[in-house]
Amino acid sequence: MLTYALIDHVFSMPMKTTVRFTWNQLRIFDAVARLSSHTRAAAELHVVQPTVSAQIKQLAGAVGMPLFEQVGKKIFLTPAGRELHATCAEMFDCWSRFEMTVADLKGIKKGTLRVAIVTTAKYFIPRLLGPFCRLYPGIDVALEVVNRDQIIERLAANRDDLYIMGVPPEQLPTERHPFLENPLVVIAPREHPLAGRRRIELARLAGEQFIAREPGSGTRIAAEYFFSTQRFKPRVRMQLGNNEAVKWSVAAGLGIAVVSRHALMHEPMEDRLAVLDVQGFPIRRSWYVVYPSGKRLSVVAQTFFDYLKREAATIQAELAAAPTGGRPKKAVPRRRGAA
Ligand code: PGA
Repeated sequence: MLTYALIDHVFSMPMKTTVRFTWNQLRIFDAVARLSSHTRAAAELHVVQPTVSAQIKQLAGAVGMPLFEQVGKKIFLTPAGRELHATCAEMFDCWSRFEMTVADLKGIKKGTLRVAIVTTAKYFIPRLLGPFCRLYPGIDVALEVVNRDQIIERLAANRDDLYIMGVPPEQLPTERHPFLENPLVVIAPREHPLAGRRRIELARLAGEQFIAREPGSGTRIAAEYFFSTQRFKPRVRMQLGNNEAVKWSVAAGLGIAVVSRHALMHEPMEDRLAVLDVQGFPIRRSWYVVYPSGKRLSVVAQTFFDYLKREAATIQAELAAAPTGGRPKKAVPRRRGAA
């Protein structure tokens, strides 16, 4: 890795810029801005707090405007500070892309991969990451599992390399690439009277209580869209913030729900749930790799993207082989004498 001392040297050279700064000052500024604290920034960077304060003061002097303002005991970025923080993010991003490219030219895949995924993608992305990390031991992974609203915030702020989601936002200019199916199914407790019935009409679910995901969830958006095209109004009894809570509530007999089939794979819960064969289901959807339009992917991000496209076939095959529901599995009769 190129050292910060070298970078500092480069940035201290005469440049056609009115603001003179060092790379180290930008790192310190970034830490204070992220952590909203000089003390925490000093601890993170292993320097003493007066060093942090002095460097921030010098940087503000170079910019010619205050970068932080203090309200009570808290510090906040000023408008100039916010601009500088966004600029820092772009510069760090650009520099780490350069480092990865240099490593790649030397034949080494090296650097940090930052991926943010919606909660439902946790059923397959970590399983793909394991072999990926073994294949590329020089790549570190920072994985964020958050809800769709948070993904959109992170995407807007360009905080990660890649985003995995089922419903890319319309309000942001993005590149979006479908890479895997994401079918949505209706689940009920195994003992539900409709479990095992074929081709159930949607209207038969009018008397059922539905358990919905939280507002903003991709699963919920897709289910609501499908129901509206069918002019069907589900009776929503409760809404819950994650698939696990939804599955447990369905298993406990509190209602039925729409979930991604991915959420039913490799789960002990599967034995307590039945997938209902409702007409119009599964709702056919895709998982997308998303990133801001115009973003230049780093070498490690591109490597993971290519890997995902290749390996999605494995998950797709598992999904196809998974029970499609409709008929609960028959209990296996115990052999006489079996323990
Ligand atoms: P969710 O997203 O976890 O926010 O519901 C999944 C999806 O979009 O299918």
